Amino acid sequence: VSLKNFNTFQIEVFAKYFVEICREDELVELFLDPQWHQTPRLVLGGGSNMLLTQDFDGLVIKMNIRGIEHRINHQEVVVEAGAGEVWNDFVNYCVDWGFAGVENLSLIPGSVGASPIQNIGAYGVELKDVFESCKAFEIATGTFKYFTNDACKFAYRESIFKRALKGQYIICSVKFKLSLIPQINISYGAIQAELTNRNITQPTLSDVSKVVSEIRVSKLPDPFTIGNAGSFFKNPIITKEQFDLLHEQFPEIVYFLLPNNEVKLAAGWLIEQCGWKGKVVGHTGTWHQQALVIVNHGGATGKEIYDFSTSIINSVQQKFGVVLEREVNVF
Ligand code: EPU
Repeated sequence: VSLKNFNTFQIEVFAKYFVEICREDELVELFLDPQWHQTPRLVLGGGSNMLLTQDFDGLVIKMNIRGIEHRINHQEVVVEAGAGEVWNDFVNYCVDWGFAGVENLSLIPGSVGASPIQNIGAYGVELKDVFESCKAFEIATGTFKYFTNDACKFAYRESIFKRALKGQYIICSVKFKLSLIPQINISYGAIQAELTNRNITQPTLSDVSKVVSEIRVSKLPDPFTIGNAGSFFKNPIITKEQFDLLHEQFPEIVYFLLPNNEVKLAAGWLIEQCGWKGKVVGHTGTWHQQALVIVNHGGATGKEIYDFSTSIINSVQQKFGVVLEREVNVF
């Protein structure tokens, strides 16, 4: 089976077996199959945060459990969505119903089930701010387990599912705690500026969602047209001491102070300063509007993109002494 249409980088690799899961009990059925325990597995949501570098001699499990429901309790609402729901459909559902909390996360590619794995975030909001719990299938035992917000150990683009429990669970559904009283978060400069531009002084959820979507469209390549996986690297976090030295040498450096004596740097800026912005190398390159995004200009292999990303890591390390970490999962 070709996986080209199942990863937003549009990389052509092949999987030996492929199964689509539309109900939780289908996972139990798979578990009862004698082959389950010997077969390597790769779980796919929207395929929007992965780089496939070779054919897969195992079973690809495409999560397609659908359904969105909500329960209102006074001023709070709990919305539960199936792992296979498209993330942005879920956001639109919430915005249309007037449930506040995810409007800043509009237009992020991918599925609901993948959202906790890397604690998706944008424009001042992270998934962990609205995540209540998730239900996950334990691969080793064939049973279901619930994870609370604390249990997920969320951090910047991190969770327990990417670290200690990597490859051990399949997320089936997620519960979100949202508010019926809009608490608009427009702390992010670009949103604020765009709202002012439109003379919107009292933005609704729908205004915020629209503005965020338009900013994303203007900066980020559409994965349906040009293969990419959003930010390829994380924004690096360094100590204040290391930062002070860098700041002296590069007064223009783009940064964000964090509470615990740490500083987050804009990886896009570091990459741009090394001359990579908009550069095309073979079938790959960085996006001309956002150097943090690596794109497939057509026909790139996963290996080619991986090697290109290594060149970027090396040159950023050489110039700034900062080691970029890949945000996408490499297979
Ligand atoms: N910048 C440059 N050159 C570039 C790109 C960025 O100089 O080519 C500088 C600019 O000064 C800009 C600053 O970096 O003001 C920040 O850029 P931007 O607002 O585009 O955000 P980002 O830090 O590059 C992060 C997330 C995005 C998210 C945006 C908005 C990560 C790894 N990426 O990008 O998330 O949409 O903030 O909140 O944290 C993703 O994870 O796939 C993703 C797209």
